[in-house]
Amino acid sequence: MRVSYSDAKRMTKRLKFGVLLSGRGSNFLAIADTIARGALDAEISVVISNKAYAPGITAAHVRGLHAHVIQPKGLTREQHDAEIMRTLTHHEVELVVLAGYMRLLTPGFIRAFGNRIVNIHPSLLPAFPGLHAQRQALEYGVKVSGCTVHFVGEGLDDGPIILQKTVPVLDGDTEETLSARILQQEHIAYSEALRWIAAGRVEIVGRAVRVRN
Ligand code: GRF
Repeated sequence: MRVSYSDAKRMTKRLKFGVLLSGRGSNFLAIADTIARGALDAEISVVISNKAYAPGITAAHVRGLHAHVIQPKGLTREQHDAEIMRTLTHHEVELVVLAGYMRLLTPGFIRAFGNRIVNIHPSLLPAFPGLHAQRQALEYGVKVSGCTVHFVGEGLDDGPIILQKTVPVLDGDTEETLSARILQQEHIAYSEALRWIAAGRVEIVGRAVRVRN
């Protein structure tokens, strides 16, 4: 299946991202910077946080982007996701970019957006899904770790892998030092994968992703 956003409209319009985050937002900022320097032909239509005081949502405000806090309190997971979907649709989002979004999306959300949701995870999936991936890698004793950009499937940190970058795990690494080394690569990897998608070069074949030249 070809994941193509390069329809007739695409000739004149840039791919519209909707960023979902819950915290620091360094991946969001790296993507925003890449767009700002003209190295990624896309636009961030809206940034949504489930946390009111996420530094990432403050940064989105500062940059003059549409930024919304949609808190889950008092809502079912389905209602919360429906609210987010409404906001994404209102901003004509074509690709949902998860950037440290610390909630599982409902199956209804994932189906509604099909292969138009991407995520970044700080391990070489399928190793170490879930929380504290860097700690899991250290505790397991692997010598190489890294990050994975993938389409979002219905399982935890599941879905076709678009791009992975590796980093060494060094003697004496702590969760902090390993996380920092991986994060540097995350910032590079996410923009690179998004550039491929924005250029219509990405195709899903079975559960694999092929990137055309
Ligand atoms: C990153 O490590 C990312 O891989 C994971 O959550 C973290 C978010 O960091 N999904 P930031 O908010 O982008 O700085």
